[in-house]
Amino acid sequence: MRRTMAMVLALALPALPAAAQDPGIGGRLAVRWCMACHVVEPNPRTATDNAPSFAAIAARPGTTADSLDRYLSTGHTLMPDFSLSSSERNALIAYILSLR
Ligand code: HEC
Repeated sequence: MRRTMAMVLALALPALPAAAQDPGIGGRLAVRWCMACHVVEPNPRTATDNAPSFAAIAARPGTTADSLDRYLSTGHTLMPDFSLSSSERNALIAYILSLR
């Protein structure tokens, strides 16, 4: 597990400076880390009822960059604690909000 995380970080790091602006990076992080449970693409071919899809999360009126940041910073019971860096959180938030 630790080795996998190191590989993931090695792949993600060169892209970090642009992460805050680029939903493309968040999209790649989402596919790598979040797709096991969430539908992360805008037009999924498959559906899952394990967790809300990212498009459904984005469509909720209460969803803002702040609410997502709070959610992803604190960790919660049913989701693994990814210990996301702030630029990874920003990239994922940009991606989720881009699905609106
Ligand atoms: C092991 C399964 C699993 C993985 C992997 C996972 N999630 Fe989740 N996630 C859930 C479940 C289940 C919920 C809904 C229940 C809850 O809040 O715990 C959820 C809820 C959420 C919510 C809040 C939805 C709401 O109700 O407002 C967000 C945002 C979210 N996930 C983002 C992510 C991101 C970003 C990743 C990847 C870094 C991720 N999740 C990876 C299972 C997962």
